[in-house]
Amino acid sequence: MPIRIPRGWEIPESRVTPEALVLGRRRGLALGAGLLAAPATALAQGAPPALPPAMRNTRYAPGRDITDEREATSFNNFYEFGSHKTISRAAQRLPQRPWTVKVEGMVESPREFGIEDLLRFMPLEERVYRLRCVEAWSMVVPWTGFPLSALLDAVRPLGSARYVVFETAAIPAVMPGLRQSWYPWPYIEGCTIEEAANELSFMVVGAYGKPLPPQNGGPIRFHQPWKYGFKAGKSIVRITLTDRRPVSFWERVQPQEYGFWANVNPEVPHPRWSQASERVLGTNARVPTQIFNGYGEFVAALYTGLRNERLWA
Ligand code: MTE
Repeated sequence: MPIRIPRGWEIPESRVTPEALVLGRRRGLALGAGLLAAPATALAQGAPPALPPAMRNTRYAPGRDITDEREATSFNNFYEFGSHKTISRAAQRLPQRPWTVKVEGMVESPREFGIEDLLRFMPLEERVYRLRCVEAWSMVVPWTGFPLSALLDAVRPLGSARYVVFETAAIPAVMPGLRQSWYPWPYIEGCTIEEAANELSFMVVGAYGKPLPPQNGGPIRFHQPWKYGFKAGKSIVRITLTDRRPVSFWERVQPQEYGFWANVNPEVPHPRWSQASERVLGTNARVPTQIFNGYGEFVAALYTGLRNERLWA
Protein backbone atom coordinates (compact mmCIF):
# COMPACT_ATOMS: atom_id res chain seq x y z
CA MET A 1 0.00 0.00 0.00
CA PRO A 2 1.56 3.29 -1.10
CA ILE A 3 2.41 5.55 1.82
CA ARG A 4 2.97 9.22 1.10
CA ILE A 5 5.87 10.48 3.21
CA PRO A 6 5.65 14.25 3.68
CA ARG A 7 8.93 16.20 3.62
CA GLY A 8 10.13 17.77 6.84
CA TRP A 9 9.13 21.24 5.67
CA GLU A 10 5.55 20.11 5.12
CA ILE A 11 4.95 19.81 8.85
CA PRO A 12 3.23 23.01 9.93
CA GLU A 13 4.50 24.54 13.12
CA SER A 14 1.14 23.89 14.74
CA ARG A 15 1.92 20.16 14.66
CA VAL A 16 5.37 20.14 16.24
CA THR A 17 5.69 19.57 19.94
CA PRO A 18 6.40 23.07 21.30
CA GLU A 19 3.43 24.51 19.46
CA ALA A 20 1.17 22.17 21.41
CA LEU A 21 1.16 24.97 23.94
CA VAL A 22 -0.53 27.23 21.40
CA LEU A 23 -3.10 24.54 20.65
CA GLY A 24 -3.51 24.05 24.35
CA ARG A 25 -4.55 27.68 24.69
CA ARG A 26 -7.07 27.32 21.89
CA ARG A 27 -8.26 24.16 23.57
CA GLY A 28 -8.64 26.10 26.77
CA LEU A 29 -11.00 28.50 25.00
CA ALA A 30 -13.03 25.58 23.68
CA LEU A 31 -13.18 24.11 27.14
CA GLY A 32 -14.29 27.45 28.51
CA ALA A 33 -17.16 27.45 26.07
CA GLY A 34 -18.17 24.00 27.29
CA LEU A 35 -17.61 22.47 23.86
CA LEU A 36 -15.54 19.56 25.04
CA ALA A 37 -18.19 18.52 27.48
CA ALA A 38 -20.83 18.40 24.78
CA PRO A 39 -21.98 14.94 23.72
CA ALA A 40 -21.04 13.73 20.24
CA THR A 41 -24.10 14.64 18.22
CA ALA A 42 -25.54 14.34 14.74
CA LEU A 43 -23.62 11.17 13.96
CA ALA A 44 -24.86 8.05 12.32
CA GLN A 45 -24.84 5.12 14.75
CA GLY A 46 -21.84 2.91 14.48
CA ALA A 47 -19.57 4.12 11.71
CA PRO A 48 -16.97 6.83 12.28
CA PRO A 49 -16.70 9.74 9.83
CA ALA A 50 -13.40 10.45 8.04
CA LEU A 51 -10.37 11.30 10.13
CA PRO A 52 -9.35 14.98 10.15
CA PRO A 53 -6.06 15.55 8.29
CA ALA A 54 -2.94 15.21 10.44
CA MET A 55 0.64 15.87 9.38
CA ARG A 56 3.35 13.35 10.09
CA ASN A 57 5.75 14.20 12.90
CA THR A 58 9.15 13.07 11.62
CA ARG A 59 10.82 13.29 15.03
CA TYR A 60 10.00 9.62 15.66
CA ALA A 61 11.45 7.90 12.58
CA PRO A 62 10.83 4.15 12.95
CA GLY A 63 13.96 3.01 11.06
CA ARG A 64 11.95 0.18 9.47
CA ASP A 65 9.39 -0.25 6.73
CA ILE A 66 5.78 0.39 7.54
CA THR A 67 3.84 -2.85 8.01
CA ASP A 68 1.35 -3.71 5.32
CA GLU A 69 -2.01 -2.31 6.38
CA ARG A 70 -3.81 -5.61 5.84
CA GLU A 71 -1.38 -7.41 8.15
CA ALA A 72 -1.64 -4.83 10.91
CA THR A 73 -5.42 -4.82 10.76
CA SER A 74 -6.03 -8.56 10.50
CA PHE A 75 -3.56 -10.06 13.01
CA ASN A 76 -4.71 -8.73 16.36
CA ASN A 77 -4.80 -9.29 20.07
CA PHE A 78 -8.18 -8.24 21.46
CA TYR A 79 -9.25 -10.87 23.98
CA GLU A 80 -12.70 -9.36 24.39
CA PHE A 81 -13.39 -10.82 20.93
CA GLY A 82 -11.55 -14.10 21.45
CA SER A 83 -8.17 -15.43 22.52
CA HIS A 84 -6.80 -15.82 18.99
CA LYS A 85 -5.50 -13.45 16.31
CA THR A 86 -8.35 -13.48 13.80
CA ILE A 87 -10.85 -11.29 15.60
CA SER A 88 -10.99 -8.50 13.02
CA ARG A 89 -14.37 -9.52 11.58
CA ALA A 90 -15.95 -10.06 14.99
CA ALA A 91 -14.65 -6.68 16.17
CA GLN A 92 -16.67 -4.86 13.48
CA ARG A 93 -19.66 -5.29 15.80
CA LEU A 94 -18.15 -2.84 18.29
CA PRO A 95 -20.11 0.41 17.70
CA GLN A 96 -17.71 3.30 17.16
CA ARG A 97 -20.30 6.04 17.71
CA PRO A 98 -21.46 7.49 19.99
CA TRP A 99 -18.28 7.08 22.09
CA THR A 100 -17.16 8.94 25.16
CA VAL A 101 -14.08 8.81 27.38
CA LYS A 102 -14.41 9.79 31.03
CA VAL A 103 -11.29 11.37 32.54
CA GLU A 104 -11.65 11.52 36.30
CA GLY A 105 -10.19 10.75 39.71
CA MET A 106 -7.47 13.02 41.09
CA VAL A 107 -8.04 15.92 38.70
CA GLU A 108 -9.37 19.44 39.15
CA SER A 109 -11.89 19.20 36.30
CA PRO A 110 -13.23 15.69 35.66
CA ARG A 111 -14.88 15.48 32.23
CA GLU A 112 -16.54 13.17 29.80
CA PHE A 113 -15.19 13.81 26.31
CA GLY A 114 -17.10 12.91 23.18
CA ILE A 115 -14.80 11.33 20.60
CA GLU A 116 -15.78 13.98 18.02
CA ASP A 117 -14.64 16.71 20.37
CA LEU A 118 -11.31 14.98 20.95
CA LEU A 119 -10.85 14.73 17.18
CA ARG A 120 -11.69 18.40 16.83
CA PHE A 121 -9.79 19.98 19.66
CA MET A 122 -6.79 17.80 20.43
CA PRO A 123 -3.53 18.50 18.53
CA LEU A 124 -3.70 15.64 16.01
CA GLU A 125 -0.53 14.42 14.33
CA GLU A 126 0.69 11.24 12.68
CA ARG A 127 3.51 9.24 14.26
CA VAL A 128 5.08 6.14 12.78
CA TYR A 129 5.77 4.01 15.84
CA ARG A 130 7.02 0.49 16.29
CA LEU A 131 4.90 -1.89 18.36
CA ARG A 132 6.62 -4.86 20.03
CA CYS A 133 4.26 -7.50 21.39
CA VAL A 134 5.41 -9.53 24.39
CA GLU A 135 4.76 -12.60 22.17
CA ALA A 136 7.87 -11.59 20.13
CA TRP A 137 6.26 -10.20 16.99
CA SER A 138 6.35 -6.57 15.94
CA MET A 139 4.91 -4.10 13.47
CA VAL A 140 5.36 -0.48 12.37
CA VAL A 141 2.19 1.57 12.00
CA PRO A 142 1.45 5.19 11.06
CA TRP A 143 -0.87 6.10 13.93
CA THR A 144 -2.85 9.33 14.11
CA GLY A 145 -3.42 10.71 17.56
CA PHE A 146 -2.41 13.24 20.17
CA PRO A 147 -0.11 13.27 23.19
CA LEU A 148 -1.75 11.94 26.34
CA SER A 149 -0.36 15.04 28.07
CA ALA A 150 -2.70 17.25 25.98
CA LEU A 151 -5.71 15.35 27.34
CA LEU A 152 -4.44 15.43 30.91
CA ASP A 153 -3.78 19.20 30.65
CA ALA A 154 -7.47 19.65 29.92
CA VAL A 155 -8.51 18.10 33.26
CA ARG A 156 -5.60 19.46 35.36
CA PRO A 157 -4.21 16.55 37.44
CA LEU A 158 -3.86 17.15 41.17
CA GLY A 159 -0.35 17.09 42.62
CA SER A 160 -1.30 13.94 44.56
CA ALA A 161 -1.99 11.88 41.39
CA ARG A 162 0.71 9.23 40.88
CA TYR A 163 -0.76 6.86 38.28
CA VAL A 164 -2.96 6.95 35.18
CA VAL A 165 -5.32 4.00 34.75
CA PHE A 166 -6.97 3.06 31.44
CA GLU A 167 -10.21 1.09 31.37
CA THR A 168 -11.40 -0.33 28.08
CA ALA A 169 -14.87 -1.18 26.79
CA ALA A 170 -16.62 -4.31 28.06
CA ILE A 171 -19.88 -4.82 26.12
CA PRO A 172 -21.16 -8.39 26.49
CA ALA A 173 -23.65 -8.06 23.61
CA VAL A 174 -20.85 -7.66 21.06
CA MET A 175 -17.80 -9.14 22.82
CA PRO A 176 -17.98 -12.94 23.03
CA GLY A 177 -14.63 -13.09 24.84
CA LEU A 178 -16.25 -11.64 27.94
CA ARG A 179 -17.94 -15.01 28.46
CA GLN A 180 -14.50 -16.33 29.41
CA SER A 181 -15.29 -15.48 32.99
CA TRP A 182 -11.90 -16.51 34.37
CA TYR A 183 -10.45 -13.31 32.88
CA PRO A 184 -10.67 -10.23 35.12
CA TRP A 185 -12.70 -7.97 32.81
CA PRO A 186 -12.65 -5.13 32.03
CA TYR A 187 -9.16 -4.86 30.52
CA ILE A 188 -7.21 -2.44 32.71
CA GLU A 189 -3.80 -0.94 32.12
CA GLY A 190 -1.82 1.88 33.65
CA CYS A 191 1.39 3.83 33.93
CA THR A 192 2.95 6.39 36.23
CA ILE A 193 2.15 10.07 35.86
CA GLU A 194 5.76 10.64 34.75
CA GLU A 195 5.41 8.02 32.00
CA ALA A 196 2.07 9.54 31.00
CA ALA A 197 3.71 12.96 30.66
CA ASN A 198 6.48 11.58 28.43
CA GLU A 199 6.28 12.98 24.90
CA LEU A 200 5.97 9.47 23.40
CA SER A 201 2.77 8.57 25.29
CA PHE A 202 0.17 8.75 22.56
CA MET A 203 -3.61 8.50 22.39
CA VAL A 204 -4.38 6.88 19.03
CA VAL A 205 -7.51 7.66 17.01
CA GLY A 206 -6.37 6.61 13.54
CA ALA A 207 -4.09 4.31 11.56
CA TYR A 208 -2.94 4.52 7.94
CA GLY A 209 -4.68 7.88 7.61
CA LYS A 210 -8.12 6.44 8.47
CA PRO A 211 -10.20 6.18 11.63
CA LEU A 212 -8.70 3.54 13.91
CA PRO A 213 -10.48 0.26 13.06
CA PRO A 214 -12.25 -1.49 15.93
CA GLN A 215 -9.94 -4.51 15.83
CA ASN A 216 -6.98 -2.21 16.54
CA GLY A 217 -8.82 -0.46 19.37
CA GLY A 218 -11.07 2.03 17.62
CA PRO A 219 -12.19 4.60 18.16
CA ILE A 220 -9.45 5.38 20.70
CA ARG A 221 -6.56 3.43 22.21
CA PHE A 222 -3.27 4.12 23.94
CA HIS A 223 0.30 3.40 22.84
CA GLN A 224 3.66 3.69 24.58
CA PRO A 225 6.09 2.31 21.99
CA TRP A 226 8.90 1.49 24.44
CA LYS A 227 6.67 -0.97 26.34
CA TYR A 228 5.28 -4.35 25.36
CA GLY A 229 2.05 -4.04 23.39
CA PHE A 230 -0.20 -5.36 26.14
CA LYS A 231 0.23 -2.01 27.92
CA ALA A 232 -1.69 -0.38 25.04
CA GLY A 233 -5.34 -0.60 26.10
CA LYS A 234 -7.81 -0.69 23.21
CA SER A 235 -11.19 1.01 22.88
CA ILE A 236 -10.76 3.13 26.00
CA VAL A 237 -13.82 4.35 27.91
CA ARG A 238 -12.32 5.69 31.14
CA ILE A 239 -9.05 7.22 32.31
CA THR A 240 -8.61 7.58 36.06
CA LEU A 241 -5.87 9.46 37.88
CA THR A 242 -5.05 7.92 41.23
CA ASP A 243 -2.40 7.59 43.93
CA ARG A 244 -2.63 3.75 43.86
CA ARG A 245 -0.69 1.60 41.43
CA PRO A 246 -3.25 -0.38 39.42
CA VAL A 247 -3.06 -4.13 38.97
CA SER A 248 -3.49 -4.53 35.25
CA PHE A 249 -5.37 -7.25 33.36
CA TRP A 250 -2.42 -9.50 32.48
CA GLU A 251 -0.71 -8.87 35.79
CA ARG A 252 -3.82 -10.18 37.53
CA VAL A 253 -3.96 -13.23 35.24
CA GLN A 254 -0.24 -14.17 35.40
CA PRO A 255 1.75 -11.97 37.82
CA GLN A 256 4.90 -14.03 37.41
CA GLU A 257 4.87 -13.38 33.64
CA TYR A 258 3.42 -9.88 33.20
CA GLY A 259 4.15 -6.92 35.42
CA PHE A 260 3.33 -3.27 35.76
CA TRP A 261 6.34 -1.76 33.95
CA ALA A 262 6.75 -4.09 30.94
CA ASN A 263 9.55 -2.13 29.28
CA VAL A 264 10.98 -3.92 26.25
CA ASN A 265 14.34 -5.56 27.00
CA PRO A 266 15.95 -8.22 24.77
CA GLU A 267 18.09 -9.45 27.66
CA VAL A 268 15.25 -10.32 30.00
CA PRO A 269 13.44 -13.40 28.68
CA HIS A 270 9.79 -14.07 29.26
CA PRO A 271 9.59 -17.11 31.59
CA ARG A 272 8.52 -19.24 28.60
CA TRP A 273 10.46 -17.74 25.63
CA SER A 274 13.35 -15.49 24.65
CA GLN A 275 12.81 -11.78 24.02
CA ALA A 276 16.13 -11.39 22.13
CA SER A 277 14.50 -11.08 18.69
CA GLU A 278 11.15 -10.50 17.07
CA ARG A 279 9.26 -11.61 13.97
CA VAL A 280 8.41 -8.66 11.75
CA LEU A 281 4.74 -8.95 10.87
CA GLY A 282 4.09 -9.43 7.15
CA THR A 283 7.63 -10.68 6.46
CA ASN A 284 9.68 -13.75 7.25
CA ALA A 285 12.33 -11.58 8.89
CA ARG A 286 13.49 -11.96 12.48
CA VAL A 287 15.33 -8.91 13.77
CA PRO A 288 17.11 -8.26 17.08
CA THR A 289 14.92 -6.61 19.70
CA GLN A 290 16.23 -3.31 21.07
CA ILE A 291 16.20 -2.12 24.65
CA PHE A 292 13.16 0.14 25.21
CA ASN A 293 12.20 -1.01 21.70
CA GLY A 294 14.74 1.53 20.41
CA TYR A 295 13.22 4.53 22.21
CA GLY A 296 15.76 4.73 25.05
CA GLU A 297 16.85 8.27 24.17
CA PHE A 298 13.33 9.47 25.04
CA VAL A 299 12.53 7.31 28.05
CA ALA A 300 15.58 5.75 29.76
CA ALA A 301 15.81 8.65 32.23
CA LEU A 302 12.34 7.76 33.58
CA TYR A 303 13.78 4.65 35.21
CA THR A 304 17.03 5.74 36.78
CA GLY A 305 16.88 5.14 40.50
CA LEU A 306 14.03 2.58 40.35
CA ARG A 307 16.36 -0.22 41.44
CA ASN A 308 13.88 -2.38 43.31
CA GLU A 309 11.31 -2.49 40.54
CA ARG A 310 10.86 -5.31 38.01
CA LEU A 311 11.12 -2.93 35.06
CA TRP A 312 11.26 -5.39 32.19
CA ALA A 313 8.45 -7.94 32.41
N1 MTE B 1 -6.61 -4.07 24.73
C1 MTE B 1 -7.72 -4.76 25.05
N2 MTE B 1 -8.81 -4.08 25.49
N3 MTE B 1 -7.78 -6.12 24.97
C2 MTE B 1 -6.70 -6.85 24.56
O1 MTE B 1 -6.78 -8.09 24.50
N4 MTE B 1 -4.35 -6.81 23.81
C3 MTE B 1 -3.10 -6.08 23.95
C4 MTE B 1 -3.20 -4.64 23.47
N5 MTE B 1 -4.41 -4.02 23.93
C5 MTE B 1 -5.49 -6.15 24.22
C6 MTE B 1 -5.51 -4.73 24.29
C7 MTE B 1 -1.98 -6.74 23.29
S1 MTE B 1 -1.42 -8.17 24.03
C8 MTE B 1 -1.36 -6.21 22.20
S2 MTE B 1 0.09 -6.89 21.58
C9 MTE B 1 -1.93 -5.07 21.47
O2 MTE B 1 -3.16 -4.63 22.03
C10 MTE B 1 -2.16 -5.49 20.03
O3 MTE B 1 -2.59 -4.39 19.26
P1 MTE B 1 -2.95 -4.64 17.71
O4 MTE B 1 -4.00 -5.70 17.62
O5 MTE B 1 -3.39 -3.32 17.22
O6 MTE B 1 -1.67 -5.11 17.08
